[in-house]
Amino acid sequence: MANQKEKQIHYFPGHMKKGLIKIEEKLKLIDFVIILLDSRIPISSINPDLLKLVSNKQKLFLLSKKDMSDQLENKKWLDYFNSKEDTRAILVNLKEQKEINNILKEISYFKKIKDEKYLKKGIKNVSLRGMILGIPNVGKSTLINLLNKKNVVISKNMPGATKNVNRIKIDKYLELMDTPGILLPKFEDHKVALNLALIGTIKEDILPLEEVFEYLISFIKKYYISNFNNRFEININEDTPNDKIIDEIAKKRGYFSKGNVVDVDKTIKAILNEFRNGKLGQISIERVEDVNI
Ligand code: G4P
Repeated sequence: MANQKEKQIHYFPGHMKKGLIKIEEKLKLIDFVIILLDSRIPISSINPDLLKLVSNKQKLFLLSKKDMSDQLENKKWLDYFNSKEDTRAILVNLKEQKEINNILKEISYFKKIKDEKYLKKGIKNVSLRGMILGIPNVGKSTLINLLNKKNVVISKNMPGATKNVNRIKIDKYLELMDTPGILLPKFEDHKVALNLALIGTIKEDILPLEEVFEYLISFIKKYYISNFNNRFEININEDTPNDKIIDEIAKKRGYFSKGNVVDVDKTIKAILNEFRNGKLGQISIERVEDVNI
């Protein structure tokens, strides 16, 4: 554990810049952006530099993994995003094909706005282009697979297109473009780093396991204690020390190393994995009232 505590967060500004430059190059062709966010940590899963870059574009926020987050918090997040200018937001479970229709319905509002603007100039049948953006692990590939199943045309490396950028033709007048390059998260802020580590976007070995665990447990104790007790068939409360929680779960699960000693790492990893896989129930980590924006 001592070694883990000494671990530092690695921050990669160079790589991040590259992704943003590629996006900036393509933005000139784009009418609107679809930004995927993880509904459990909507603010930490936005790259703030990206937001600045798309400040003059219309934005559709897709708050993904709604099946894994707290429904009450989700409603507050929707109000938060929908109150912003040029912004629409919906919650999505990208594991469900029918979600595509909700997404296309939202995009149709952007189409209507563009059509009306051009009709005033006497121009009909204008086409609309969007770009899909999001840090890793928020569901971009899953969304593109859903679109694929809807029988839209996805063409790779079309003439004039950047290498490896998918262009997805939804219909005659609507085209979506996948993120050119990789958009890395920004995690200079330690809390953002912890949030990203919790949902598995930052690899486990970058942050001390014990710290990530303590962070999760503080949320559990505050908001989701019954979920946790039900899952592990234990009976902890707000005042139960963390080492006692680990002992109890290790005993339940039989996580011991040689000499019958509790295997702390294995127990912590199991708890974090169960959170990431949604086994602890619907849990939101970021809350509107805690965010200072
Ligand atoms: P990315 O391209 O943005 O990096 O993310 P990707 O689509 O690969 O999604 C990351 C993981 O999140 C995948 O799980 C995917 O199935 C899951 N996921 C995406 N959207 C949702 C959602 O709305 N609800 C739920 N429950 N899961 C979602 P995985 O375990 O990495 O892959 P797989 O086992 O599903 O193949």
